[in-house]
Amino acid sequence: MPIEICPSGRELGAEILNIDLREELDTETLDVIRQAWREYLVLLIRGQDISDGDLVRFSEYFGELRTSPLGEARMKGRSRSPDGFPQVAIISNVTKDGLPIGSLGNGEAIWHTDMSYLESPIMAAVLYALEVPPSGGDTGFANMYLAHDTLPEELRAELVDRVCIHDHSLNSAGFLRRGYEEVTDVTQTPGARHPLFRTHPETGRQALFLGRRRNAYISGLPVEESEALLDAVWAHATKPEFTWHHKWNVGDLLMWDNRAVLHRRDSFDNSTRRVMHRTQIEGDKPFYQAA
Ligand code: OGA
Ligand code: MN
Repeated sequence: MPIEICPSGRELGAEILNIDLREELDTETLDVIRQAWREYLVLLIRGQDISDGDLVRFSEYFGELRTSPLGEARMKGRSRSPDGFPQVAIISNVTKDGLPIGSLGNGEAIWHTDMSYLESPIMAAVLYALEVPPSGGDTGFANMYLAHDTLPEELRAELVDRVCIHDHSLNSAGFLRRGYEEVTDVTQTPGARHPLFRTHPETGRQALFLGRRRNAYISGLPVEESEALLDAVWAHATKPEFTWHHKWNVGDLLMWDNRAVLHRRDSFDNSTRRVMHRTQIEGDKPFYQAA
């Protein structure tokens, strides 16, 4: 059977049917997937039973992989990658010998863009579920093209030529990264500066590019003004009507366009296990080109 694309019915997200990621994919199939990915921003593939090698092969169809990002301080230098796969990051609440085997714990991971604290954030991430809790731990996505296109004019005018600092010190679950200290003054937040609007290099569409709320700061503004603007634009960007949430089953795989969506994760009971393997696909430096 040929692959089939089944839209979520929300403002982003689609499922790909009739695909087995243990096998190599032909160019025709890949063209259909790339096209759907540009259109729906997040793709879901259910019911897989793949190895890390399969995950890496599938991810590499879309670009070069980047090794996993800087670990959490609480991991005390333990590798967060499975043996032999430095390009794969483990996302998990499970501990072994008193240390986490992966990142993000069991708490809520608040809305964010992956690695936006770097000059060149990743283009995409691919997340595969090996173990999932019976409830909680759903992952949500928000469409930043739509957030851009519906932004109230007053806010657009305030933000359009501004640059924002994307904090490197904390990850999306609020854990401090290795080698960083708590930020006390957001004008000194460590991390990359990016335009608040971003032109997608493939589609040419404009997207809101917020990255992460904690310790964010709009360069050049008094802190209170920056905070008020950020609160307003974040409230807009994460409106429920821009979102789609996925409830995981073992064997599900999601890939998202990290240039055009925000994502988050619900908390879950820490006495249950959640183990995900993730790859990160290389990306470019964000830019904004006014239409
Ligand atoms: C990530 C992430 C959410 C999740 O891997 O970047 O935010 O559902 N994960 O595990
Ligand atoms: Mn993430």
